[in-house]
Amino acid sequence: MDSNDLNRKDVYILGIESSCDETAVSVVKNGREVLSNEIASQADFHEQFGGVVPELASRMHIEAVYPCIVNGLKKANLSFRDIDAVAVTYGPGLVGALLVGLSAAKGVCEATGLPLIGVNHMHGHIAANYITHKDLEPPFICLCVSGGHSQIILVKDYLDFELLGTTRDDAAGEAIDKIARVIGLGYPGGPKMDKAAQGGNVTRYTFAKTHMNDTLDFSFSGIKTSALNQINKLKMQGEDIDICDFAASYQQHIANELVRNTIIAAKSKGIRKICIAGGVSANSFLRNELKKQGKKFDLYFPEMKYCTDNAAMIASIGYFEYVKGTRHGLDLNACPSLEL
Ligand code: KG4
Ligand code: ZN
Repeated sequence: MDSNDLNRKDVYILGIESSCDETAVSVVKNGREVLSNEIASQADFHEQFGGVVPELASRMHIEAVYPCIVNGLKKANLSFRDIDAVAVTYGPGLVGALLVGLSAAKGVCEATGLPLIGVNHMHGHIAANYITHKDLEPPFICLCVSGGHSQIILVKDYLDFELLGTTRDDAAGEAIDKIARVIGLGYPGGPKMDKAAQGGNVTRYTFAKTHMNDTLDFSFSGIKTSALNQINKLKMQGEDIDICDFAASYQQHIANELVRNTIIAAKSKGIRKICIAGGVSANSFLRNELKKQGKKFDLYFPEMKYCTDNAAMIASIGYFEYVKGTRHGLDLNACPSLEL
């Protein structure tokens, strides 16, 4: 941002997020100050099915989005007249879910004349760090790990990204959720497995090492399979799995893989600042491992409530898009596979 940008009047962005199973609305001032952060989570509802049912998620977003917008404005003590633009996630995510937030945002823009700004959900996850760390500026390396993505990103500027590494198969969150379900921890697996593993022995169980030379890419499918094989083998032998130790060993193994490549990426690019983002960035094993291996770096962790899906991060990245001049028409479509 140049000095002209700093002299602007305050900018208030209304953010709307509905890419998976959280309907969220937030008002953020100047990209960093959260004035409201409404989240209607469907996690308890989807628990009975062991995962998100896309069609039901869409229907629940329809019910939740309007009250979230009303409450988001009310808690910020603002009205539409005070808002400068509406930022909304248009991808990646579940198409039906995305369409609900996007349609609501278009409705607001059509009724109020406010500009519409479609934003990339993954850019939003990275921006969660700007909310937590008011002085953080690019360039930095961001390890962005969610239910659908595991990416090492060089953030050159607020809206200039280079993908350095990604998963070749499953995302880290997906690998954690699947094994959590198999060992009976239920949905959503990530936070439950993290909790169940506290104090566990991280070396009791071992898993396949899947990192490859000459690439920063990840592979989590093999780790997941090696966990499944061990669980089946122990069952056949009539042995009980120690849930605490198993969950600790498994998460530690995934954390090792994630941190290893992230540190290599930062060193190879000569970058001192490392951020993490996305739902899995809430994981205590990942955070501890990064603190251990990343002692020589400046580390930035988003506040817990901004790790998993929320609209404050969408409004934050929406601010940087707004300043850059990004505006979308009402013909903007949802992009379920939107790339970085
Ligand atoms: O970013 P997010 O809320 O949604 C997506 O964009 O996918 O991430 C959800 C993922 C799920 O896989 C969830 O199990 C995982 O983040 N997660 C965690 C923790 N909290 C959420 N994984 C490990 N440890 C946690 N504490
Ligand atoms: Zn997400």
